[in-house]
Amino acid sequence: MSSTANGSVTMTLDGSNKSFSLPLRPGTIGPSVADVSKLYGNLGIFTYDPGYGMTASCESKITYIDGDEGVLLHRGYPIDQLAEQSTFLEVAYLLLNGDLPTTAERDEFEHGVMRHTMLHEQLRRFYDGFRRDAHPMAVLCGVVGALSAFYHDSLDINDPEVRRISAFRLIAKLPTIAAWAYKYSIGQPFMYPRNDLGYAENFLYMMNAVPAEPYHVSPVLARAMDRIFILHADHEQNASTSTVRLAGSTGANPFACIAAGIASLWGPAHGGANEAVLKMLGEIGHKDNIPGFIEKVKNKDSHVRLMGFGHRVYKNYDPRAKIMERTCHEVLAEMGIKDDPLLDLAMELERIALHDDYFISKKLYPNVDFYSGIILKAMGFPTSMFTVLFAVARTVGWISQWKEMIEDPSQRIGRPRQVYTGPVRRDFVPLDARG
Ligand code: CMC
Repeated sequence: MSSTANGSVTMTLDGSNKSFSLPLRPGTIGPSVADVSKLYGNLGIFTYDPGYGMTASCESKITYIDGDEGVLLHRGYPIDQLAEQSTFLEVAYLLLNGDLPTTAERDEFEHGVMRHTMLHEQLRRFYDGFRRDAHPMAVLCGVVGALSAFYHDSLDINDPEVRRISAFRLIAKLPTIAAWAYKYSIGQPFMYPRNDLGYAENFLYMMNAVPAEPYHVSPVLARAMDRIFILHADHEQNASTSTVRLAGSTGANPFACIAAGIASLWGPAHGGANEAVLKMLGEIGHKDNIPGFIEKVKNKDSHVRLMGFGHRVYKNYDPRAKIMERTCHEVLAEMGIKDDPLLDLAMELERIALHDDYFISKKLYPNVDFYSGIILKAMGFPTSMFTVLFAVARTVGWISQWKEMIEDPSQRIGRPRQVYTGPVRRDFVPLDARG
């Protein structure tokens, strides 16, 4: 899987007569990339790119983002079309397999996923090892990592059938693991999955039902949950996906790789931002306090950021944020919430920020997390579960990217280089001679 070079860019080492022609690799859309893989052999230098903002770490056919235009495509399909017209499991099929399924393929895929929703009973006891007040992301990370101890038959990553079944298991079991992390934290009995329900519907059932009485999942909320899952399904080579690919490049099993992705997603600069947005809105408290808060954000020394704003790739409105805002209004209407002070506060904060020179000049716009927390809160999720929901959805993207990487013949172990700035070689000094 390797695009053919098309053109080149020449690099010349100042002060020497050495130069090297870097082949340019075009994508189907988006800018070409200069292939630096043979640079050291020819010029004796590496490239320096902290945060990898200018580095393409792989070729991928899964997701395309145009950050300047605010475009997000999965296998070529715009995110708004998928969010409006598709379902999460159909998007999962698309991400994994490259094309939308036929009816028969969709039915077979959905059946395949939904037949794997149960957890091994032994895994159930694993939960007892966590403190009752453990953060559900910590539980998720631990339980997903532990899945590799339960599927000894699924660790040969070179077998396509093993890759297929691992994808099913991960996509199917994440909602169960996540819902049980929540039930454990509130001391309610675990609810077993119901395979007669849709994917998002079953998740809401396991979260909210109790064995003592019947529970009916609202179709509006199930649809909103499904859409939230679609919006979080994949986002090309972000920090957690790159973590999954890096872990996977060593040949580690998929359960361990996804656990690594979950750990990476947890941080407030990444998936933890939805939780941080609600905390921030709570701290602002009232519209009157917005100007003061904005001033604090603009003061670099305060180290305060407007959470839910800004993105490494989007320098325009995140297309997911627009759909999220629409979904937010639908959910609040379904919940009978006419005036939500948090939503009012968020909308006013957005309005003020979008008219402020600081945010305009730095091209900082709302990202997917700005509104998602408000929806999730209205749906009854505690803030500690927000990033967990992100992880449930992103598992599809992670496993698709992992599978693509394993199937790429040019794949090598991920191993960045560095500029060493420590001490040059020196000799050991015995303790008694150090003064
Ligand atoms: N509030 C205030 N200033 C900001 C913000 C913000 N949210 N984001 C970026 N800036 C400023 C930053 O201080 C810097 O200013 P200067 O050029 O004067 O030094 C400039 O904008 C560029 O920022 P950066 O940190 O170099 O940009 P980055 O690409 O490294 O960071 C980001 C991207 C998402 C980590 C950052 O925008 C951020 O911290 N946002 C808030 C957290 C957040 O909402 N994260 C969710 C991201 S979307 C979901 C996901 O992918 O997980």
